[in-house]
This record gives sequence, structure tokens and C-alpha cells, in this order.
Amino acid sequence: MWKRVVLSVVAVGLVSVAVALSGEDPHKVKLFDIPESDREKLEDYRQTWTRLTGFEYSGLHWNQFVVVYSDLGAQAYQTNYTQYIAWYEDPDEFDGMPDYVTYPRGTTILKENFSIVDGKPEKSLTVTAMIKREPGYDAENGDWEYLQFDAAGKVLLRGKGSDPNIDEQCASCHKHVAERDYIFAQVFSAPNRRAP
Ligand code: HEC
Repeated sequence: MWKRVVLSVVAVGLVSVAVALSGEDPHKVKLFDIPESDREKLEDYRQTWTRLTGFEYSGLHWNQFVVVYSDLGAQAYQTNYTQYIAWYEDPDEFDGMPDYVTYPRGTTILKENFSIVDGKPEKSLTVTAMIKREPGYDAENGDWEYLQFDAAGKVLLRGKGSDPNIDEQCASCHKHVAERDYIFAQVFSAPNRRAP
């Protein structure tokens, strides 16, 4: 009896040491509050979605550091990334355009945006996301909904690319890559990362 108690105490002790050594999973840290309206879909993106990039410098996303995630895995994004890079490195090899794919309905591509201080990401600023809605939602703009919210979970902007404000703030840029289904996919550095 006592032997068993001692053994279980030792076992519990070892587990605690292992947890302490492994440290806190950085993906459990909450950097952005999610708006109430999107909580069901977005709440656990850092733990359960596929992380597609490391911290990347984005000149066009307002000179911030960014990290990109997807809820439906890396497949379409990775394919388009690979096609784009192959074309970019050797455009003569392609007849016309590279063979890009479109994203399945329901896909959300989410990007965290951070300020930069001394070359390092510093503060959580906003989340920008694109959600692939049902066919006909905004057919001329790939049926994407654009969303941006701040670190406190306040929605700053949401809507279709055909809405003039969304066009000005987001879609006018993403239209340049309509053939890539409006997603640039030009950085890909953490294939298939999924937290345990
Ligand atoms: C000035 C051009 C520009 C504007 C405006 C812009 N984007 Fe982007 N966006 C890009 C570029 C370029 C990338 C890919 C490379 C990078 O991150 O710099 C990107 C990447 C993204 C990504 C990651 C998926 C991808 O395309 O690779 C999302 C999501 C996104 N933008 C959403 C938005 C939303 C939402 C807005 C409006 C609030 C917006 N963008 C405004 C140029 C822009």
C-alpha cells in the first residue's frame, strides 16, 4: 500500500518536472481578444489551426510583423506558394500563368499584425482575416469576406470587396492576385504546424 503511494508521489513529481522543463506552450498565450461575433470560429486559432509562417516583415501590411494561420490546413496555400515561387524564379518555364488553385468554401486565412520596435515584434495591433463565403456572396471578388479587428476584439472593418470602403482598405490590393484566389501566399515557413 505505502509502496504504491510513494510510487504515485514520485510519478506525479516527475510529470511536474517535465511540464516545468518544457515551459509554457507559446501558442496558448492570448494576444488578441476575439470579437463576440466570431468567437466560435476564431477563439482557438493559435492552438488548433495550421500556422503557415513565422514572424515575417510585411512592407505592404503597414510595415508590421505578421504571422499567418489557416483553419483548413496548408494545402491550397502551399500549392499556390510553390507555384508562385517557381514562376517568380523562372517565368520562362511557364506557358502563361502558373497552375493556381482556389480555396475551399469556409476557409479562413488569418493574419496577426504586430508593431516593430528595434527590429522585433512588440505590440499586438490588429488581426486581418479573409473568410471564403458561399458562392455568390461576392462572386466578382472571389466570395471573400474581409475582416479586421484590434487587440481588444473591436471590429474595425468587415465586408465584401465590392463595398467601396473595403475595396479601398483591403480588396484593391488583394485584387492584384485574383488569379491566386486573392491570397498572396508569398511566404510559407512553417509547414503543417499544429499544436498538440
Ligand atoms: C497595400 C496592399 C494591401 C492592403 C491595403 C491589404 N493587404 Fe492584405 N496582404 C497584402 C500582401 C502583399 C500580403 C502578403 C504578403 C505580406 O503579408 O506582406 C497580404 C496578406 C494578407 C493576408 C494573408 C494571406 C495572404 O494574402 O497571403 C490576409 C488574411 C490579408 N492580407 C488580409 C487583409 C485585410 C483584411 C485587409 C484590409 C484591412 C488587407 N489585407 C489590406 C497586401 C495588402
